[in-house]
Amino acid sequence: MDAIEALRGRRSIGKLDGDVPEAELRELIELATWAPNHKLTEPWRFTVLRGSARERFGTLWAEIVAAETELTGGQRDELMRRTAFKPLRAPVIVAVSVRTDQNAVRAVEDFAAASAAVQNMLIAAHALGLGAIWRTGDVAYRDEVKAFLGLDPADRIVGFVYLGRPAMTAPPARPRAVEEVTKVLDS
Ligand SMILES: Cc1cc2nc3c(=O)[nH]c(=O)nc-3n(C[C@H](O)[C@H](O)[C@H](O)COP(=O)(O)O)c2cc1C
Repeated sequence: MDAIEALRGRRSIGKLDGDVPEAELRELIELATWAPNHKLTEPWRFTVLRGSARERFGTLWAEIVAAETELTGGQRDELMRRTAFKPLRAPVIVAVSVRTDQNAVRAVEDFAAASAAVQNMLIAAHALGLGAIWRTGDVAYRDEVKAFLGLDPADRIVGFVYLGRPAMTAPPARPRAVEEVTKVLDS
């Protein structure tokens, strides 16, 4: 698959199963790190959640949601049950995070570079026949989650990349709107 085909063919795949072998996962992380990064700060960090680590993440996620909901009784239990299941939607989750540099420009550029790394991972996964989806949500911004991942509160989670074998048909592509999002200054 060439790069242009991979770019056009990639879709977010929310239903994932099977497994991602260690060698394939290592390659995806290595490919992610080919992203450009200003000053060669290599700002990205990858925390892999597999197996029962996903269950522990789900338990924490359910506790966070339970602490904030106004639901009670069976409805609260059901919400917690559904929330705890969320990390089990894929055999592997890679949390991509970035250190927050004291210099504001460096911090923005490091986050941008780590975002490019996530996109590299998504495209590489697609080219290898895997399915993937970039997820954030409230949990990406919680200190409890950063602590669970062994991150510093000042670190930022760029996204959770859910990976696995595609277990759904890829959603249809949206039309692109090049003219609507482009202006040309030529004089
Ligand atoms: C920063 C970021 C966060 C995202 N978070 C979520 C998420 O929490 N849940 C989700 O279902 N999709 C999430 N997505 C995926 C987008 O919904 C998806 O890219 C969009 O619908 C376009 O679909 P495509 O990736 O198939 O082109 C996220 C994408 C980005 C870039």
